[in-house]
Amino acid sequence: MRTILVVDDETPILESLEMFLGEKGYRVITAATGAEGEMKFRQHHPDVVMLDIRLPDKNGLEILTEMLGIANPPKVIMMTAFQDMETTIEAMKSGAYEYLNKPLDAGEIERTVDRAFRMNWPAGSHEIPADVPSPKGVIIGKSPQMCDIFKTIGILCRNQATVLIQGETGTGKELVARTIHHNSSFSIEPMITLDCSAIVETLLESELFGHSKGAFTGAVETKPGKIELAGRGTLFLDEVTELPISLQSKFLGFLERKEYMRVGGQRIHKSRCRIISATNQDMADLVRQGRFREDLYYRLKVVSIFVPPLRDRICDIPDLARYFLQKAAREHCTEARQFEDGVMDVLCAQPWIGNVRQLQNVIMAAALRSRGKRVLLEDIERELAAGCSRTLANSVDFSLVSSEQAHILKALEHTRWHRSRAADLLGISLPTLRSKIHKYGLQPSKPFHMPMA
Ligand SMILES: Nc1ncnc2c1ncn2[C@@H]1O[C@H](COP(=O)(O)OP(=O)(O)OP(=O)(O)O)[C@@H](O)[C@H]1O
Ligand SMILES: [Mg+2]
Repeated sequence: MRTILVVDDETPILESLEMFLGEKGYRVITAATGAEGEMKFRQHHPDVVMLDIRLPDKNGLEILTEMLGIANPPKVIMMTAFQDMETTIEAMKSGAYEYLNKPLDAGEIERTVDRAFRMNWPAGSHEIPADVPSPKGVIIGKSPQMCDIFKTIGILCRNQATVLIQGETGTGKELVARTIHHNSSFSIEPMITLDCSAIVETLLESELFGHSKGAFTGAVETKPGKIELAGRGTLFLDEVTELPISLQSKFLGFLERKEYMRVGGQRIHKSRCRIISATNQDMADLVRQGRFREDLYYRLKVVSIFVPPLRDRICDIPDLARYFLQKAAREHCTEARQFEDGVMDVLCAQPWIGNVRQLQNVIMAAALRSRGKRVLLEDIERELAAGCSRTLANSVDFSLVSSEQAHILKALEHTRWHRSRAADLLGISLPTLRSKIHKYGLQPSKPFHMPMA
C-alpha cells in the first residue's frame, strides 16, 4: 500500500493530514518529533515523507539528508510556516522533492503527493558540496513566483545547465544569476559578466573569445576572453539580445561544442563554464522579427526563469521595503528603523515601473532624508514624485541636459527599450547610450509587455 509518513509537531496538522490523505486511500503514519519520525521511517519504509522543517528536537533539513541517504530513498515534501530563500534553496539542493508553505492548501497537498507517487524522479543526488560558501546577496520574496524561482535555483545547483533569465528592468535578474552561481558546486570558480550592450560591436568577439597577439591592430599581446576567464564557473551574458547578429552564429557554435578559438588564434580551446544570460527584452518577439537567431534562443533557454515585475507580486513589497531600510542603516548609518503608518499601503499601490531597483532607490533616499527613527509618509511621497519627474523629464525645463534626457528617453520608449536600436536612432554608440542611461538614471516610464517565456 502506498505509505506516507507525516512528521510535524502540530497535532492539528497531523490529524488533518492523516484524515485527508487516509480518505484518498493512502496509508498514513504520523510522528510528532524528529526522533519518532526517524524511528517510524526505519520501521515502515514510506514512499513519501511530509516533513516539517522546524521540529522541537531536530532540524528537518538534517532528517531530510539522513532519509535521502538510504538506497531507494523516499520523495520528501518539506513543510514550513517560515519560508525564506535560504531554507528553500537548501532544502531543494539537499534533494527535497517539494516545498510546501503553511498554511497548507488541500488541493496543493493532493497534487503534490499524487505527483510524488506517480513520478519516478530520483529524490536527489545527495552530492551536497562540503564547503558551500554562504550566498552573497539575499533574494527577498515570499510570493509564489519567487518561491518557484528559489526552487529552480535549488535544482540548478546540481547541474551546469544553460539558463536564460528574462524580466523587466530592475526585477533582480542579475541577483538571481549570482545566486545560482553562489549555490552551485562551482561557486569557488569565478563568475564573469559580459554586458553585451556595454562594448562596441567590433570588440565584443575578442572580449568573449579572447585574441592572440597581432590578431588586429592594437592586439599587442595575447589576451584571454571572458569564456576562458570563467573557467569552470559561470559566464553571465547580460543584455544578451544586444549580441550582434554577426556574432550570434559563432556563439551558437560555441554553445553546441563548448569549444572556441581566440580571435586570430589557431588552437581549439575547451570550456566548461555555465552560461547564464539575461535580458529585459521580449526575446520571442525579437526572434519573430528576425533580430535574434531562433536556434540560439533555444540553446540559451534550456532552463528559463521569468522574474515577474514587482507590481505582479505586491506581497513581496513590505519585506523588500524593510530589507532596504536595514540596508540603508548598515551602509549609510541612517537612523530610521521603521515606517510611519500608511507607508506600506502607498508602496503597495505604486506601479513600480523600475521594479525592485526603483523601490530600493526610493527607500534608500527616503531613509537618508529622514532625521529620526521613522521614515515618514511625506518622505516616501517626495521620493516617488522625484522619481517620476526624473523619468518623465520636466517639460518646462529648457536646459540642454534635460532636453537630452527627454530625447534619449523618447528614443528608448519608441524602441521599447531596445538599446541598440535606440542608439542607432540617436546616432550614438551603444556604450555611450548606456552611460547616459546610467548618468541620468533613466528608466521606463510605462511598462512594456513582456509575455512569459
Ligand atoms: N528580490 C530581491 N531582493 C533583494 N534585492 C533585490 C531583489 N531584486 C532586486 N534586488 C536589488 O535591486 C537591484 C536591481 O537588481 P538587478 O540588478 O539584479 O536587476 P536586473 O533585473 O538585472 O535589472 P536590469 O534589467 O536593469 O539589468 C539590485 O541592487 C538588486 O540587489
Ligand atoms: Mg541586470
